[in-house]
Amino acid sequence: MNYYQRMEQKFQALQKKKDVIILSVESSCDETSVAVVKNGREVLSNIVASQIDIHRRFGGVVPEVASRNHITAISNIFEEALKEAGLSKFDLDAVAVTYGAGLIGALLVGVNFAKALAYSLDIPLIAVSHVFGHIAANYISHQTLEPPFTCLMVSGGHTAILKVEDYCSFKLIGSTVDDAVGECFDKVARVLQLPYPGGPEIDKLAKEGHSAYHFSVSNALKNSYNFSFSGIKTAVVNFVHNKAQKNEEINKADIACSFQEAVTEELCEKAVRACQVEGKGKLVVAGGVGANSRLKEKLSNACLERRIDFYAPVLKYCTDNAAMIGSAAFFMLKSGLGLANLDLTAKANVGL
Ligand code: KG4
Ligand code: ZN
Repeated sequence: MNYYQRMEQKFQALQKKKDVIILSVESSCDETSVAVVKNGREVLSNIVASQIDIHRRFGGVVPEVASRNHITAISNIFEEALKEAGLSKFDLDAVAVTYGAGLIGALLVGVNFAKALAYSLDIPLIAVSHVFGHIAANYISHQTLEPPFTCLMVSGGHTAILKVEDYCSFKLIGSTVDDAVGECFDKVARVLQLPYPGGPEIDKLAKEGHSAYHFSVSNALKNSYNFSFSGIKTAVVNFVHNKAQKNEEINKADIACSFQEAVTEELCEKAVRACQVEGKGKLVVAGGVGANSRLKEKLSNACLERRIDFYAPVLKYCTDNAAMIGSAAFFMLKSGLGLANLDLTAKANVGL
C-alpha cells in the first residue's frame, strides 16, 4: 500500500476516534502560525509569529520577503506549538494546512512543511481553505455555536455573505464586485499615512473623530447582497490628494471616522437583512475586519433589536492564525472531506 492508500484507511478510522488531535499550519500571508487543536474546539496551543514589523517599512506585505521569513520561522514555531501543547509529534493524529487562498510563495512554505511532517509521521494530511478557517474561528471562540447561520466574511481578500448550512456546506449569497473591504481599509490608511496594517489604525483613529465628511457607498447594489467599495476608497484617496495639492489642512480622524461609518453601515445593513431573510436567527462575523470595533458594535446592536444571536471570534482568532485551520480540519474530517495526497499544492485563489 502506498502512503495515500494507508491514509484513506487512517482517515476513516479517525472519523470514529474519540479524541482527535490535529496540528495545523497557516502561512497564507504575513503570519507564520502553528497550532494544536483537540476535537475542533479545544486549542491546546496557537503560536503566531507576525511579520508586521518587517513589512511595515514597505507600507504593505512584500510577497518574496514573506516567503523567506516563513521558511526561517516555521520549524521553531512548530516546536513551540508542540511544547506549549505539552505533546510530542507522535501524539498527533493528523496535520492540517491552509493550501489557499493567499500569497503563493508564502502558502508553499506551509504546504511543503505540512506534507513532509504528515509523510514522516505516516498520518493524514488535510487541506483547508483559508476562508473556511476564518468561519471556524467562531467554533473555537463559542463552544456551543453550531450551523446553520448567516456569515459575514470580511478579510483582506474577501467580502461576502454566506449561508452556512452545515459545518462543511456553504452557499454564497452576496460578495464584493470589486475590492475586499480589508483592502480598502488598508488603502485609506495608507493615504492618511498610517502604518501597515491599516485596518486597526483606522479603527483606533476613528474613535477620536466625527463623521464630518460625506463619503458614501454606491447605491447601485442597494437591493442585492453584493458590495462595492472601490468607489468610496477612490473618493477618500482623491479627497486627500486634492487637499494636499491645495495645501489645505485635513482632519485625519474625521476622515477615518467618516469612511469607517459608511463602510460598516453598508456591511451591517446587508448582513442583518440577509440573516432576517434567510431566517436562521444567528449572524456570525469572520475574518480580519471582524476585529473592527465599530462594525461589531453596529452588528451587535442591530442583532439585539431584531432578536438575532450575534457571534464574533475573540480578537486573537479574528486575524490569521493556525488554530482556526485546525478547527476547520476537524469538521472536514468528520464529514470525510479534505484528505490530501503528497501532490497537494498551493493555490492563490480558492472559490468561496
Ligand atoms: O483575515 P485577515 O487577517 O487576512 C486575510 O485573510 O486577508 O484580514 C486582514 C485584514 C487587513 O486588511 C486588516 O487591515 C484588516 O483585516 N483588519 C481590520 C482590523 N483589524 C484587521 N480592519 C478594520 N478594523 C480592524 N480593527
Ligand atoms: Zn485571513
